[in-house]
Amino acid sequence: MTNSEFEHVVDTTDEWIVQRTGIRQRYIAGEDETTASLGEAAARKALASAGLDPSDIDLIVLATSTPNNTFPATAVEIQNRLGMHHGAAFDMQAVCSGFIYALTTADLYIRGGVAQRVLVIGAETFSRLLDWEDRTTCVLFGDGAGAVVLEAAEGVGLTSDTGILAAKLRSDGCHKTKLYVDGGPSTTKTVGHLRMQGREVFKHAVGMITDVIEDSFAIAGIKPDDIDWFVPHQANRRIIEASAKKLGIAEEKVVITVDRHGNTSAASVPLALSVAVEDGRIKKGDLILLEAMGGGFTWGAILLRW
Ligand code: UT7
Repeated sequence: MTNSEFEHVVDTTDEWIVQRTGIRQRYIAGEDETTASLGEAAARKALASAGLDPSDIDLIVLATSTPNNTFPATAVEIQNRLGMHHGAAFDMQAVCSGFIYALTTADLYIRGGVAQRVLVIGAETFSRLLDWEDRTTCVLFGDGAGAVVLEAAEGVGLTSDTGILAAKLRSDGCHKTKLYVDGGPSTTKTVGHLRMQGREVFKHAVGMITDVIEDSFAIAGIKPDDIDWFVPHQANRRIIEASAKKLGIAEEKVVITVDRHGNTSAASVPLALSVAVEDGRIKKGDLILLEAMGGGFTWGAILLRW
């Protein structure tokens, strides 16, 4: 759905959306599509790219805030769609930071020896949570899914190892009302709509993002200059550029897909990763920095070698 299509839905313009956010279009799931079907498609693509089959996977972690049903977990539905009747699957709910939380969790399952190969998916259908009469939110979000496969491998404990080198997660519930959904099974017994005080979120975003990134640099003993690619959460081009500038990461190392996907919440980082891998920018051995911040607030960063 392009920005100009929104001009017939709410009082907005392509110019406002591009100037304030960098978004030019977003994808909206079709009537027959769901978080599970998008997640399944991303999972199958990731498995094909890893040369693996569902039988090789022993855990699925799905990051989503838009599950198909309140329960069971949508991860279990994806597990069934993949024809997997072994292993385990569960959902993680950290809104836009969901993929960072899920990837960190999957890494710890592998480090703990509990899993060997984990499918980590970020999938969302935020279009179904939007108030389509609220121009301050409905133009910002889109639907999508992305996935990666993590596999256990011995490392030597140096930054030359492949896989996740450092991760830092944060949350602070005092910010709840700045970005939340005004419904839920235990409160209104309805699904509710997304509500956001955009300016308030913006005010905190750059500081929170750069804090966790600096923490992850310190944990791994890495400097901003060492990074090959910065793959941030895609909420707003201005937030991404201000964060990169504050950290001293060169513009040409920043992967930006917010123009084509909008904010897809937990799907935004794996979607951006997928674009940069497919177009040949991200190569084996590259040092990648991931980050996200969103509802909760939750925020986090991961440093990994591809
Ligand atoms: O992924 C989770 C994290 N979320 C985020 O990171 C979002 C963070 N926030 C943002 O990205 C920005 O705050 C927004 C893009 C949401 C808004 O940009 P802004 O520069 O902070 O604009 P604003 O909220 O200060 O609004 C400026 C004006 C207002 O009009 P007045 O009060 O100045 O007359 C709004 O009513 O723009 C108006 N406005 C719009 N105008 C045209 C708000 N939405 C629209 C719209 N079209 N869609």
